[in-house]
Amino acid sequence: MRIALFGSTGQVATEVQRRLPSGATLEVIGRDRADFSDPRQVHDIARTLEAEAIINAVAYTAVDKAESEADLARTINGQAVRALGEAAERTGTPLVHISTDYVFPGSGTAAWKPDDATGPLGAYGASKLDGERALGDTGVRHVILRTSWVFSAHGNNFVKTMLRLGAERDRLTIVNDQIGGPTPAADIADACLKIAAALADGHPGGSHHFSGAPDVSWADFAREIFRQSPGTPEIVDIPTSDFPLPAPRPLNSRLDCSTLHAEFGIKRPDWRAGLQDVLRELDAQ
Ligand SMILES: NC(=O)c1ccc[n+]([C@@H]2O[C@H](COP(=O)([O-])OP(=O)(O)OC[C@H]3O[C@@H](n4cnc5c(N)ncnc54)[C@H](OP(=O)(O)O)[C@@H]3O)[C@@H](O)[C@H]2O)c1
Repeated sequence: MRIALFGSTGQVATEVQRRLPSGATLEVIGRDRADFSDPRQVHDIARTLEAEAIINAVAYTAVDKAESEADLARTINGQAVRALGEAAERTGTPLVHISTDYVFPGSGTAAWKPDDATGPLGAYGASKLDGERALGDTGVRHVILRTSWVFSAHGNNFVKTMLRLGAERDRLTIVNDQIGGPTPAADIADACLKIAAALADGHPGGSHHFSGAPDVSWADFAREIFRQSPGTPEIVDIPTSDFPLPAPRPLNSRLDCSTLHAEFGIKRPDWRAGLQDVLRELDAQ
């Protein structure tokens, strides 16, 4: 199977390249060939591809910076995704696109279902919702895979931040009232590759959720990181209100992942196992 991957250096993009199943070939389109701040360029490149499925792992992911760069975030996460969808629809190539728990308002304690009402709190979430809706408008056959709290040995993420801070300080104050599912980028890559194969085989597509289990707070996520790694800082729980950031965060990021299991046989991974792999890799580095 021939897959085209948009994005080369990001967490998920890196893992897709590392976890390609045997017999599949991958064309990687990095920023040098398709800069998503130029939707026309994305469209023109996508029109030339001869793939059986496309995976889009590109996104503007700087949640706080998006509050002051909302237009750029909307171009990369919205208009460029529309351009990609239009080109893919023309070539008849199905598409796997990754989205986020940040499209939801974060209220309540129930796990969000794929067809629950969205309501992003900030610019990043709004730009990602734009991208979801744009793909729907284009008519391209596609799967939207919403995920949350992504971590790996690459790029920027909570695990690497905790290890750095844990090495510098004896006491860390971590938010305890935001609840969600940490998700290894490696598992997201496997899910995207499995979904791409199903789409290449004619699957009709749809919107689905994928996150690691169990759902926890950032404070408990940090505790597990230090249970599995050398650092022993004291973790002190604080509410979100004590840790103001430019972009509002959803308190409830729980995702109902049951439709993905029903449609593709993909279960929620236990993120603590994925964390062990990441810590081992970071240790080896
Ligand atoms: N990270 C999370 O916690 C999280 C949570 C929920 C959902 N998601 C979603 O999951 C997906 C993958 O996220 P990730 O964590 O792998 O992201 P990431 O590590 O931040 O990587 C983003 C990728 O997008 C590329 N990119 C950014 N701006 C670009 C542009 N103008 N043109 C071309 N490429 C550009 C980056 O390339 P460069 O390296 O060249 O900048 C990088 O390869 C995204 O759709 C994201 O919205 C992420």
